[in-house]
Amino acid sequence: MRASILVAGSLNMDFVATVATLPTPGQTLTGSTFDLIPGGKGANQACAAGKLAGSAVGGDAVRVAMAGRVGDDPFGERLTRSLAAAGVDVEAVERVGGVSTGAAMINVGADGQNTIVVIPGANHRFLPAHAEDLRGRLRDSAWLLLQLESPLDTVQALLRAARQEGARTMLDPAPAQPLGRELLSLVDVITPNETEACLLLGRAAARLGLADAPEMARAVRALGPRAVVLKLGDAGCFYSGPEGEHTAAAFAVTAVDATAAGDTFNAALAVALTEGMAVPAALRFANAAAAVSVTRKGAQTSAPSRAEVDAFLAVRA
Ligand code: RIB
Repeated sequence: MRASILVAGSLNMDFVATVATLPTPGQTLTGSTFDLIPGGKGANQACAAGKLAGSAVGGDAVRVAMAGRVGDDPFGERLTRSLAAAGVDVEAVERVGGVSTGAAMINVGADGQNTIVVIPGANHRFLPAHAEDLRGRLRDSAWLLLQLESPLDTVQALLRAARQEGARTMLDPAPAQPLGRELLSLVDVITPNETEACLLLGRAAARLGLADAPEMARAVRALGPRAVVLKLGDAGCFYSGPEGEHTAAAFAVTAVDATAAGDTFNAALAVALTEGMAVPAALRFANAAAAVSVTRKGAQTSAPSRAEVDAFLAVRA
């Protein structure tokens, strides 16, 4: 039984300002704090998976590896160290000379909501040809986790290689962008939030609730992915796929910072499925991990350990 998760994608240094309210165009605001925090949608997923892994699958603990590119600068080194400290194999994170490490400018408001501007830097040097270097790892992996902060042709090459090597694929279609059927048909589980789902379907952005979820999830599934997990934030999530249809309500918590909650959700879902949890239990586990993460500041700084998620769930049985 395969017991590894490979995350391929972005590593960013997050420049995080906290503000009372998010700025509007033309406005200058005085913030209250500034921090440099390891982030990037790919690295956040790897970090969270590393912290959550550890249960036995046929006698083996789930192992997590990251593949991506950083610049030849101190940020790249710090991001790689942050992942290694979470137990992630970072051998496939390579340094590229002459380009800066990816960066993200993040404002976090008092309600925990944020705005993010990403500067890809070295993340855009992660090229389709690099998928070939990862075939050996894909052959050993239960899951390949992807997001959209890497070039789209790299994402597609990785999806194709994963399918050929027998690894299941989970795509977080964030940041939102339109995707073709060829790419989508290589995805086993796609995990859009409401904005991303609307964009995939060519519909105007709308706030969705659980009542809208079945129609929306089925429509996204008709575009090619084998299964859809619609992430609806504080409303919870909805699964439509070969395992039927399942709703999992979110846990009520006081949000401090929503940054990387979606990344933590995907990581937890992949860990749970690799461990052999059934879909309803895996969705509940992922909701719990995301709920704990929003109670804390930052991206990788907010990812919970396995013990924290188990303790959170134990009092909500
Ligand atoms: O999903 C959150 C992440 O988005 C941040 O860590 C930032 O780096 C951007 O990639």
